[in-house]
Amino acid sequence: MKKTIFAIILITLAILGSWYYYNFIKYAPKTYVKDSQVVTQTENGSNTTNVSATVNTVTGETTKVTPTYKLADISSHNNASSCYSIVSGSVYDLTMWVNLHPGGKSAILSMCGNDGTDAFMNEHNGKSKFMKILARYKIGTITQ
Ligand code: HEM
Repeated sequence: MKKTIFAIILITLAILGSWYYYNFIKYAPKTYVKDSQVVTQTENGSNTTNVSATVNTVTGETTKVTPTYKLADISSHNNASSCYSIVSGSVYDLTMWVNLHPGGKSAILSMCGNDGTDAFMNEHNGKSKFMKILARYKIGTITQ
């Protein structure tokens, strides 16, 4: 009996562990700096270099230069193959998150190409757990 309980606990931990790995580690975008650009490496291997960086040649420290977007730049990214959204004045590339969202694709697709602040806040109340995930996908801020 004890062995069975132990085995069930072990299997549950393995399932939870791999779920966490696939959702939050494996597919998290990885970023590095090359030729004064912050390169974001995505799950399908393509690199985006839409975020600039300045490199201090003495210390080697890099500072991200946050790009700004207009609403018109966002509106064409309104589908699963390219999904940009705005939450509280920041711009997010949610293309990867469309397929990863535990609450389903349609919830994220409804934010693509528009200001998703209300949709996001109404559902998740801006709690830090959700804000942390959102922060991974930030690509800039919105201007008038
Ligand atoms: C990019 C923005 C969003 C992020 C980062 C996000 C993140 C998450 C996460 C991590 C979960 C799992 C909940 C848990 O483990 O407790 C979840 C579930 C869910 N999300 Fe989102 N979400 C976003 C946007 C939205 C939007 C806009 C809606 C609705 C319009 C939505 C609806 C839901 C629903 C219905 C669930 C399942 C129920 C629940 O577990 O609370 N999400 N979301």
